[in-house]
Amino acid sequence: METVVSGIRSTGKLHLGNYYGAVQNFIKMQHEYNCFFFIADFHSLTTHPIPKDLHGNVKQVLVEYLACGIDPEKATIYVQSDVPEVTELYLYLNMNAYMGELERSTSFKDKIRDQPDNVNAGLLTYPVLMAADIIIHKATKVPVGKDQEQHLEMSRTFGNRFNRLYQVDYFPEAYAFNYSTNLVKIPGLTGKGKMGKSEGEGNAIFLSDSPEEIRRKVMRAVTDGGPLEMNQAKPDVIQNLFSLLSAVSSADTYTHFDDLYNNCQIRYGDLKKQLAEDMIIFTAPILERINDISSNSEYLRKVSKMGAEKARESASKTIKEVREIIGFKSF
Ligand code: TYM
Repeated sequence: METVVSGIRSTGKLHLGNYYGAVQNFIKMQHEYNCFFFIADFHSLTTHPIPKDLHGNVKQVLVEYLACGIDPEKATIYVQSDVPEVTELYLYLNMNAYMGELERSTSFKDKIRDQPDNVNAGLLTYPVLMAADIIIHKATKVPVGKDQEQHLEMSRTFGNRFNRLYQVDYFPEAYAFNYSTNLVKIPGLTGKGKMGKSEGEGNAIFLSDSPEEIRRKVMRAVTDGGPLEMNQAKPDVIQNLFSLLSAVSSADTYTHFDDLYNNCQIRYGDLKKQLAEDMIIFTAPILERINDISSNSEYLRKVSKMGAEKARESASKTIKEVREIIGFKSF
C-alpha cells in the first residue's frame, strides 16, 4: 500500500484554503492509503511564536483535524516535534542541500519580503525539513495545495540526491496529490491572491468562524461595478468569488450565478449572500465538533500519544537504515 504524508503548520485556526487544498483529501485518503498526517510545529518556529501560543496552536490544529473527520484509528495523526528522528534526517539532507537552490525557492523569496527583519536559516532550509517529513516515512503521495508544488519538487531532488550520493535506491519520489486533476488554490476575500492567515484581516474564512463572522467577511469582499458586455471575462476579484462558489456551493448554484454574470444581470450582493450561507452550512457541523473535542483533553492526549508512537516506529526504522547507508557504525 502506498504511503501518504502531509502536514499543516501550527499557526492557529484552519481556513477554507487548508480544507480544500489539503484536509479534504486527507479524509478520503485515510481509507485508501497508509496515511501520516502531522502538525508541523517545528516549521512554525520560523516565525518565532511565543511559547505561550505554541501549544495552543498545536492543539487547535489537532482538534480541527479530528473535527474535520480524520480518524486516528485509520490515519496516524502526530505532532512533528514528538518525532525527533525527523530532525536527524533533516541534518543529513542539509549536508546535500545547496545555498543557491534554497535561495531560489519561491517561498523563501516570499518570506524575505514578508518578514525582512527575521530572515533566519530555518526559513532557508524550510524545504529540507519538509523533505525529511515526507521521505522519513517513504511516502509517494503528498496531499497539498498548489502553493506547495515547488517544495515537493525540492523534496524529490533531495531524496534522489541522497540515493545517488550513496548509490542506493532507498527513498522513493513523492508527488503532490489532489483527487481532482489540478492542485487547488483557494483565493482570499480581499482580492489579494490566495486565502491565507498572513494576508490580512478579512481575507480568510476559518472553519471555526461563527455564522456572523462569515457573513461579515463575505459581504465585505471586494467586487467591481459589474460586467458591461455579455460573456465578458471575469476580472480577478470576481473570479475569486466564483472560485469560492465552485468550492463551497452546488454546481447548480454556480451555474445560476455564472449565467446571470454572462447576461449582465448579476447582483453581487445576492451572490455573496448565497456564498456566505453555503459556507455556514458547510462549516456548522465542523464548528460543533471543534467545540466538543477541544474540551476533551483526555481524548486529545490519547490520540497524540498513539500517533507519536506509530510515527516514531516508522521514522526510527528509516533512521536506522539511513545511518547504515551513510556509514555510521557503533563500536
Ligand atoms: P501550511 O500550514 O501553509 O498549509 C497547509 C496546507 O494547506 C494548503 N493551503 C492551501 N491550499 C489551497 N488554497 C489555499 N489558499 C491554501 N492555503 C494553504 C497548503 O498547500 C498545505 O497543503 N509546508 C507546509 C507544511 C508542511 C508539509 C510538510 C506539508 C511541512 N512539512 C510535509 C506536506 C508534507 C505548509 O506550508 O503548510
